[in-house]
Amino acid sequence: MKIARFSRMGFILAAAGSAVGLGNIWKFPYIAGEYGGGAFVLIYLFTVLIIGFSIMIAEMLIGYLGRKDGVTCFEDLAPTHKHLWKLGGFQGLAGLFIMIFYSVVIGWIFNYIVTSIFYLPSSVKEAEITFNTMLHSGVWTQLFYHTLAFIWITYVLTKGIKGGIEKMNMILMPTLMIILLGMFAYATTLDSFSRAVEFMFSPDWSKIDSNAFVTAVGHAFFTLSLGMGAIMTYSASMAKNSNLVKNAFWIVFLDTSIAIVAGLMLFTFLYQYGSGPAKGPGLVFISLPAAFFEMGIIGNIFAILFFIALAFAGLTSSVSLVEPMVQYFIDRYSWSRLKASMSMGLFFYLIGIIALLSNIDGFKETLTWGDKNFFDWVDHFTATFMLPLGGLVMAVFVGFVIEKQRVEAILKPQLGFAFEAWYFSLRYITPVAMFIVILSLMGIL
Ligand code: PFF
Repeated sequence: MKIARFSRMGFILAAAGSAVGLGNIWKFPYIAGEYGGGAFVLIYLFTVLIIGFSIMIAEMLIGYLGRKDGVTCFEDLAPTHKHLWKLGGFQGLAGLFIMIFYSVVIGWIFNYIVTSIFYLPSSVKEAEITFNTMLHSGVWTQLFYHTLAFIWITYVLTKGIKGGIEKMNMILMPTLMIILLGMFAYATTLDSFSRAVEFMFSPDWSKIDSNAFVTAVGHAFFTLSLGMGAIMTYSASMAKNSNLVKNAFWIVFLDTSIAIVAGLMLFTFLYQYGSGPAKGPGLVFISLPAAFFEMGIIGNIFAILFFIALAFAGLTSSVSLVEPMVQYFIDRYSWSRLKASMSMGLFFYLIGIIALLSNIDGFKETLTWGDKNFFDWVDHFTATFMLPLGGLVMAVFVGFVIEKQRVEAILKPQLGFAFEAWYFSLRYITPVAMFIVILSLMGIL
């Protein structure tokens, strides 16, 4: 059977589609807001460039050399202790766990696209009521849209790398970029644009504690889709003789610029028409719609376009979250793509319903442990623990386990004199940073 591979452009768009997601447009602005803007943004940028970029190249290399699902890649590439290293490939499970809440959020976005056509809340208070009503008592609405998200994502996965994933990204990613750039261009003409720039780039270090640091590192992983095998699985289908370093550069560049463009645009709108930089997950669902209302009719158009862009960002990431485990069952158990996609889809869909219910009055109490409900635990555990752990495993694997000649043969011509610096960072800087993050999360540091 002929193996389907991405075209060069297809790979960059698909991997950027994986990276650019709810993390960029929904999460990044609100966590940046929570930690006071500038200082947090700088730590995040620093982590993305120093740690994120190195691990991106390493993760790509594992997939590119292994050419199979994650588990098989680790197993084949490890010279010894194969049964142990193959566990590294099970990081793909993190993607399925992320999908548990990710699909529910995509459902909220679908709902907002539809309601924005004829309704926008006239104040933040009203917007808060609308959002909370959906969140805490809108079981059927959420269920309906969560089901739509499940159908869309699973359908694309059944169509495979070329006919499904590549094709969707070739359409959705350029559309998303055009929408965001158009809205960003409008934002730059508003008075408040300079205040948004100041908020995002002038650091206020007093808001930074170890928590902010760990969140920034966790988010750098989440936003670049690192540490769980999404990039690795896509890289297994990269065209032969591709330049990994250039590809990694493009993905990091697109992901970071889109987060910054989205952040600047949202904060400009919030300063100009709304209540200033809002905090918390409700930012795009509460403060933003109220700001759109103030714009008049153009606000409805902006709201619809914005939520469409957000949905596209979420959908292109979703397929990459599920694909590693789909590929695993295809490669290791010879499942058909249809069977693998359906089973993985049903997994996140059904457990997603529990996550959805954990926000609903009446179920909330049973589904809350400590200070977080099921939904928040899944988010917290995956982004701040599983992904950094996966990143650590990958860095150690490429830095110490795969023979240096194999790594060099591919990356030296591409990295040139920077090869040794990259290799050093991968062996020593990245693992130590990851280790500190994981220990501090476990409350040991
Ligand atoms: N990078 C995606 C985002 O920013 O929303 C989320 C994500 C996708 C995380 C794929 C991890 C992953 F493997």
